[in-house]
Amino acid sequence: MLRELALHILDIVENSINAGATRVTIEVREDTREDTLIIRVADNGRGMDAAALQRAGDPFFTTRTTRRVGLGLPFLKQAAEMCNGLMSIESQLGVGTTVTATFQHSHLNRMPLGDLAGTLLTLVIGNPQTDFILRHSVNDETFEFDTRPIKAVLGDVPLSDPAVIAYLKQALEI
Ligand SMILES: Nc1ncnc2c1ncn2[C@@H]1O[C@H](COP(=O)(O)OP(=O)(O)OP(=O)(O)O)[C@@H](O)[C@H]1O
Ligand SMILES: [Mg+2]
Repeated sequence: MLRELALHILDIVENSINAGATRVTIEVREDTREDTLIIRVADNGRGMDAAALQRAGDPFFTTRTTRRVGLGLPFLKQAAEMCNGLMSIESQLGVGTTVTATFQHSHLNRMPLGDLAGTLLTLVIGNPQTDFILRHSVNDETFEFDTRPIKAVLGDVPLSDPAVIAYLKQALEI
C-alpha cells in the first residue's frame, strides 16, 4: 500500500508516459465543504480500446513485458474505495486516457497528499519531452504550474540545468 497520494499520482502519470503522452494534466481538487478530494490525470497518449479499457483495473492485465501483473490502477482503485470513493477510467484509442479517483477528504483511511511538488519536479526533469500541467485547488484557491510557457522561454536550455531546476523549484514553491 502506498502511503502518499503523490506516489499514486506518480504511478498513474508513469502509465501516461509509457503510453507515449506528450502532455499530461494533473488535477487535484480538495473541497472541504463537499468533503471530497478528487485526483484526475488526463493524457494524450495512445489510449486503450474498449477491451483493454475494461481490463485496465484488473491486476492481471498489463502490457508490460517485464512482469505479468500491473498494479498502478488496481492500487489507486483500492485506495479510493477504502475512502468511500471510486476510480474510473475513460479512454479512447489514439486520443488519450483520463483516470479519475475520488476520496472522502476526511476519511480516516485517506492517506495524505504527500510531496506533490517534489513528485512533479521529478517527472518534469525526467521527462523533458512531455509537458506537464498541474492544477491543485483547495476550496476556492488554485495553484497552477505549466511547463509549456517555461519551455517556450528556455528554448535550448535543458531542464536539467541547475539554474533551471532552481527556477522550477521556485515555481513549484519547493
Ligand atoms: N494512460 C494510459 N494510456 C494507455 N494505456 C494505459 C494507461 N494506463 C494504463 N494503461 C494500460 O493498463 C495496463 C495496466 O496499468 P497499471 O498501471 O495497472 O499496470 P502497469 O502499468 O502495467 O504495471 P505497474 O503499474 O505495476 O508498473 C497497462 O499495462 C496499460 O496497458
Ligand atoms: Mg502502471
